[in-house]
Amino acid sequence: MKNSMFKRVLACLLAALCVCALLTACGAPETPADDKTTGAAAETNAPTEPSAEAPYDYMVLVNKENKLPDNWESVIVLEDAQNTIPEGVELNKDNEYLATDVFKVETKALKAFRALQEDLAKEGITILLDSTYRSVARQEELWKQFEADKGIEYTKKYVAVPGYSEHHTALAIDVCLIKDGVIINDNDQMIAEKDIFAKIHAKLAAYGFILRFPEGRDEITGYAYEPWHFRYIDSPEIAKQIMDSGLTLEEYLTRNSN
Ligand code: DAL
Ligand code: ZN
Repeated sequence: MKNSMFKRVLACLLAALCVCALLTACGAPETPADDKTTGAAAETNAPTEPSAEAPYDYMVLVNKENKLPDNWESVIVLEDAQNTIPEGVELNKDNEYLATDVFKVETKALKAFRALQEDLAKEGITILLDSTYRSVARQEELWKQFEADKGIEYTKKYVAVPGYSEHHTALAIDVCLIKDGVIINDNDQMIAEKDIFAKIHAKLAAYGFILRFPEGRDEITGYAYEPWHFRYIDSPEIAKQIMDSGLTLEEYLTRNSN
């Protein structure tokens, strides 16, 4: 290469390096996936996100017909989380797990959940993590516990067969409530809290969550109404489409399968 040509190439390379450095300093988005992050979620002191695009599909369908994908648990990025129980709230032996358990949640789902929780707290609504990631073994325990306590018919309506629970994905979060200083984590009591859950559900989509088992959609989802079970799908835009349309995840995925 001639000396003058070499200088021109060197100058181009230096210019390109300067542009890259400037873009990084200005905080240009690193991946298109960043665009999907909600504004509110971005405000929190969130843990570091995986640098590469997540190797799993946030829209994954796990239901009675679709089991957890085989490699899922080896690639999912989990974080530990604990509840902070407000002062003055008394726990008993049936709900002390809320203070002592370490919950595992997929990293972006946890960040979005914390933002949702903070937003709701401003309206005087307190939600806590009640059940998040579950291993297949834990789901087996849960199934047996429900079957013993409530019978098989109830269990089939509210508990997935081990291997077929969305909780295995770490993208599903069950919440419970604190109302007037009292923990509400019983299924029937939570279903009765229509006003509070209506306010919570109205905010889900903005943080990339959907209500996974809406009322009256048992035929499609396979499960009874669970106002407490939120599913993180990562995209506030798609979550809004699903929540506004009243579609289930099954219906949305079928309609958008091409
Ligand atoms: N409660 C939901 C259906 C589960 O067990 O995954
Ligand atoms: Zn659940």
